[in-house]
Amino acid sequence: MKTGLIGAMREEVLLLKKDIQNLKTKQFGSREFYSGTINDNELVMCLSGWGKVAAASTATTLINHYQVDQLVFIGLAGSVQAHLNIGDIVVANQLIQHDVDLSRLEGFSSVESPFWKTFEFDVFPHSGKKAIQAVDKFILNLRNGEYPNIHSGYNPNVYVGAIGTGDQFIASNEGKVRINERFPQVLCTEMEGAAIAQVGADYQVPCTVIRVISDKADEQAHSSFAKFLFEDISHISVELAKLILS
Ligand code: ADE
Repeated sequence: MKTGLIGAMREEVLLLKKDIQNLKTKQFGSREFYSGTINDNELVMCLSGWGKVAAASTATTLINHYQVDQLVFIGLAGSVQAHLNIGDIVVANQLIQHDVDLSRLEGFSSVESPFWKTFEFDVFPHSGKKAIQAVDKFILNLRNGEYPNIHSGYNPNVYVGAIGTGDQFIASNEGKVRINERFPQVLCTEMEGAAIAQVGADYQVPCTVIRVISDKADEQAHSSFAKFLFEDISHISVELAKLILS
């Protein structure tokens, strides 16, 4: 099983890169792709950058040039539901492009395009199950004190549900309400997951998205995001990635 692992932030990608054995680096467009193995598990890792186009371009290269068997994205998200707190973990069972709206096009009853009748992508059940198992193992290891680089007070809740994706950093109540009203099932919002899911669906490659809540997508989102980013997130992502690969 060869995994295409996509990260949106340099810190996480560089940290995991240190653990890749037989490392080979290749450039496609403006991105570097790092291939090799971690504990005998084959992977190709890449820093996508932020947003749907960056994520889709990266996923397409991973499929066409490296023939990966699965796509995995681990990163941060803003919660759009009051019960999700900073640090909680969300495993996607559905990925929705919340910013696509073709409903005003004449002749189309709702969101519809020539290739896709929907911009809501279900995660393949097998991938969803594997992701949940990896997160459960992460929580167990965390409680057993196996991660010295992660703050000892970190005790996240884990949720399985829909993740919304759009080309916007949501940082207002109004933005959150817009997502909640159209997609009440969405737990959190980010900028890449459903783009990768669409490419995965195009090529029938399964896709896993796991997000750690960095902010509440409200007026304080920018400052809590920055604080969280520079504390534990790289280590959390790296440990989750290693468990997904194994
Ligand atoms: N990623 C992390 N927080 C986010 C937010 N509030 N909006 C979009 N993407 C995010």
